[in-house]
Amino acid sequence: MADAFMNGAFLPLSEAKVGVMTHALHYGTSIFEGIRGNWNPEEERLFIFRVREHYQRFLQGCKVMRMSPPYTAEELSRITVELVERSGYRQDIYIRPLAFKGTERVAVLKLQDLEDSLVIFAIPFGAYLDMEAALRCCTSSWRRMEDTMIPPSAKIGGLYVNSVLAKTEATLAGFDEAILLTQEGYVSEGAAENIFLVMDGKLVTPSISDNILGGITRSSIIQLARNELGLETVERNVRRSEIYTVGECFLTGTAAHITPVGHVDNYQIGSGEIGPVTRELQRLYFDVIKGRNPKYRHWCTPVPTTVARAHL
Ligand SMILES: Cc1ncc(COP(=O)(O)O)c(C=O)c1O
Repeated sequence: MADAFMNGAFLPLSEAKVGVMTHALHYGTSIFEGIRGNWNPEEERLFIFRVREHYQRFLQGCKVMRMSPPYTAEELSRITVELVERSGYRQDIYIRPLAFKGTERVAVLKLQDLEDSLVIFAIPFGAYLDMEAALRCCTSSWRRMEDTMIPPSAKIGGLYVNSVLAKTEATLAGFDEAILLTQEGYVSEGAAENIFLVMDGKLVTPSISDNILGGITRSSIIQLARNELGLETVERNVRRSEIYTVGECFLTGTAAHITPVGHVDNYQIGSGEIGPVTRELQRLYFDVIKGRNPKYRHWCTPVPTTVARAHL
């Protein structure tokens, strides 16, 4: 069994190691992705959701950090399928690609002087947030990072200190998740999720210029809502106080899927429970990510089972 791929070779995750002087460990000089493999029990195989789009975003992030993994998005997708096949998992999994500055030198060095390393690993992964119970969220006192500080459109390791501080503050105060505002005070996103509001028969979500990560779940939901429910999405600045009066609010992300929000800053949102639009989108989305909806099957890359491969 191999559940990791590191610098060109498949190996067990327990053998994929770095030294304590690794630059990325000290200075956050890494780019990562989070990809889900969803187990389809009827077909008895895993489907990897929008793997190419994840690797396109990954490679854009690598460019920002002046890293050049020696693979295209297509090649990374193929390596990932092989990795998952070799792992033999028969359950929902999470795939973590990580490109990092692997040079073992303690100094704030120039990116162009540092060596790139690449690891991809797959681990079993269930629910990240409770998708049935509507979350209690708070507005964080930490503001979302600006593009002029650390580009928030790239999944840069060091950037996530911002999310971790916000999540920590929220949970220590008894909330489930944090919502971060931009420096100007507009809603940006959750600590690791995009945010949507259901208002006046439309979806509303902060735009890319509000320092969000351009979520792949976000883009999937925009398309599913339009195509399947006839709901358009407006991408615009969202004021914090607007959330308090909407009918429904939900968070989206690879880990979080579609998670309803029942309260924000102790204001009840709608009924305080999962709303009808959120429930319908969840239902659609879960079928899509498991490869059950033929219309969106092209978003799902099937992992050949070892048995199937033996017959090729
Ligand atoms: C800060 C942040 N926003 C949004 C998202 C949602 O993005 P995606 O749907 O591509 O997982 C994530 C998760 O990767 C995230 O870390």
